[in-house]
Amino acid sequence: MEIKKPRGTRDFSPLEMEKRDYVEDSMIGVLKSYNYRKILIPTFEHAELFQLKSGEEIQEHMYVFRDKSGRTLCLRPEATASVCRMFAEELRGKRLPLKLYYSCPMFRYERPQKGRYREFWHLGIELIGPKSPESDAEVITIAYNSLKKLGLKFQVEIGHLGILRGLMDDLGMDEKIQDRVIASIDKGDTENLRKLVDKQILFDLIETKGDMDVIERAEKLLGEYKKAKKALNELKGVLKWLKLMDVEYKINLGIARGLEYYTGTVFEIRVSGLGAQNQICGGGRYDDLIELFSGLKVPAVGFAFGFDRVMSAIDLQGIEIPRKATDVIIAPVNDTVKEDAVKIASQLRDELNVDVDLMNRKLEKILRYAGDIKARYTIIVGPEDLKKREVTIRNMKSGKQKRVSIENLKKEMIKICK
Ligand code: HAM
Repeated sequence: MEIKKPRGTRDFSPLEMEKRDYVEDSMIGVLKSYNYRKILIPTFEHAELFQLKSGEEIQEHMYVFRDKSGRTLCLRPEATASVCRMFAEELRGKRLPLKLYYSCPMFRYERPQKGRYREFWHLGIELIGPKSPESDAEVITIAYNSLKKLGLKFQVEIGHLGILRGLMDDLGMDEKIQDRVIASIDKGDTENLRKLVDKQILFDLIETKGDMDVIERAEKLLGEYKKAKKALNELKGVLKWLKLMDVEYKINLGIARGLEYYTGTVFEIRVSGLGAQNQICGGGRYDDLIELFSGLKVPAVGFAFGFDRVMSAIDLQGIEIPRKATDVIIAPVNDTVKEDAVKIASQLRDELNVDVDLMNRKLEKILRYAGDIKARYTIIVGPEDLKKREVTIRNMKSGKQKRVSIENLKKEMIKICK
């Protein structure tokens, strides 16, 4: 019987995992340098958590199921609602700000295609507590610096949902309609948008994109609309900080985001050449979501990298990921020295990564194998050498060999490997 993996899921080979771990470590290094700390949330939650404020788009794609006690659960489709729930349940009363990050798989029942999976990874942060332009700017800068550090080429686009919502409030549109308008903008569904609104100013606003001149254009456009104008001023504050932090970006007042909980600054990062799924990161400010779960008015802002898309961008742009070589292969020349070979390996393992031949191969074949997997050294353990308490170290690159006493082996190997 042949059983295949479910549609939209993937297996990752050791080589792929090595690359993914390298990239993840590099990004986490940036998050840690800003003092973000790791959390973990459950793989499944009560479905209601995402039904309250995440929006239709997410709900349509959720894996919902009943457990044996009849509870309606779902696999987490994203982490922000979970983190807010966690704040209400576990973290309320802690000193603010809370700077949190997570790296774990999400599940969405979407139509699988290149860059779109049913199981995919988010590496994300949530900054809970501050409400200031510099905190929005910090979050965007972290995303920017994480990608720059990897050597990627990408474009950051920044918008503000307060401007869109503010304008719709000023136009007297109710919240339900606003949610539908925002969902249609996010999907690029102009036809539906035309059915929902007939005010040209909204269409003009979402087409307002470009460099700093956008702000002037938007100021003129929004002249008499107070709420929208106030949000535009907030955005100006964030942009000022981003300039200070040397972040390059474009302004796009048409960014709507697919999730309903955003209230302020929003941003998306794209990589050209990735096709339709070219958005590798999305995030923004959501000041009302924690209140929904905890009753406490605590503002927050965050983002998530679509980690799989970051990996595709790395491949696409030909960014070399350094491979981690095996330090040492230990080659027992025959059965009589196997026990010694295993003992030698254990002595070295607290410092190096060490393989002992487990295939009972002849020395010549072990050396060929060590060459194939690009091991750095082979330690040849032979009966004659052992009588003198010695082994032979072979440098696999140069082919040079030297004898070392077992007593000094560890010191010698650390010296040459590190
Ligand atoms: P999101 O935009 O839904 O935001 O997801 C973040 C990123 O995940 C997207 O930009 C995209 O790169 C990636 N992604 C989404 N769906 C898939 C998929 N089916 N396959 C592969 N990658 C995918 C959020 O989930 C928010 N929780 C982000 C956030 C955190 N906002 C504030 N804090």
